[in-house]
Amino acid sequence: MKGIILAGGLGSRLRPLTKVTNKHLLPIYDKPMIYYPIETLVRAGIKDIMIVTGGNSAGDFLRLLGNGKDFGLKDIYYTYQEGEGGIADALKLCEHFAEGQRTVVILGDNIIQDDISPYVQKFEDQDSGARILLKEVDDPERFGCPELDGERIVRIEEKPVQPKSRYAVTGIYMYDRRVFDFCKRLKPSARGELEITDVNNAYIKEGDLHYDVLDGWWTDAGQFESLYRATQLVASAKEHAPV
Ligand code: DAU
Repeated sequence: MKGIILAGGLGSRLRPLTKVTNKHLLPIYDKPMIYYPIETLVRAGIKDIMIVTGGNSAGDFLRLLGNGKDFGLKDIYYTYQEGEGGIADALKLCEHFAEGQRTVVILGDNIIQDDISPYVQKFEDQDSGARILLKEVDDPERFGCPELDGERIVRIEEKPVQPKSRYAVTGIYMYDRRVFDFCKRLKPSARGELEITDVNNAYIKEGDLHYDVLDGWWTDAGQFESLYRATQLVASAKEHAPV
């Protein structure tokens, strides 16, 4: 299983914080944002990791993370996404890295309390397909939002004006090798991006998208409110952690 962290894009929603630096290097409590997705993958036993970066200060990732020694890694692979073509555009850059293996993909601004190992294990037990993680939220219109028919996801809408459920599709995705074929067939959305939601909808069409619902907290950190919330959640988790 290979791990992919998508930390490209320009972080426009966080200007001026991202005017001279990269969003994923901003602090969340006591660590740079990019530390959290790396730790999430490493905790799940995934040590073969590619980081897609982009925008400003891409070289600072190397200065900060080096070969990943601080995370118990032997090395880290890096690549660079030009522009802000979307999450699936960034993912496309990882096809050669994946070498036909399954991948766990995590967005560089997603911070999660749970250890994702049990979900990764369930994905390994699947014959094929994709697995996503949902979280019940107060503002599903900010995210990819699934429409459910009983237990089955029939469609995911990206930032719907009228959400069909109270769930957000979190930025942690597990894919078989077909993901890169689906990425290649995408057309840019109305916001000019290759959408990961369209990739997930392609798996739904194949009848091969599975999911779990998270118990613990999860947040993105791509807007001022969620960046602030992420810091609060991490700080409070530290405060209540057993010594
Ligand atoms: O956080 C979960 C949500 O993330 C999902 O519910 C949505 O379905 C998904 O589209 C995404 O929504 P956002 O609009 O919040 O994504 P954003 O543009 O903020 O990008 C999130 C991360 O993805 C960002 O921190 C780095 C990576 N990314 C994004 C873009 C646009 C790239 O690597 N390259 C890109 O071009």
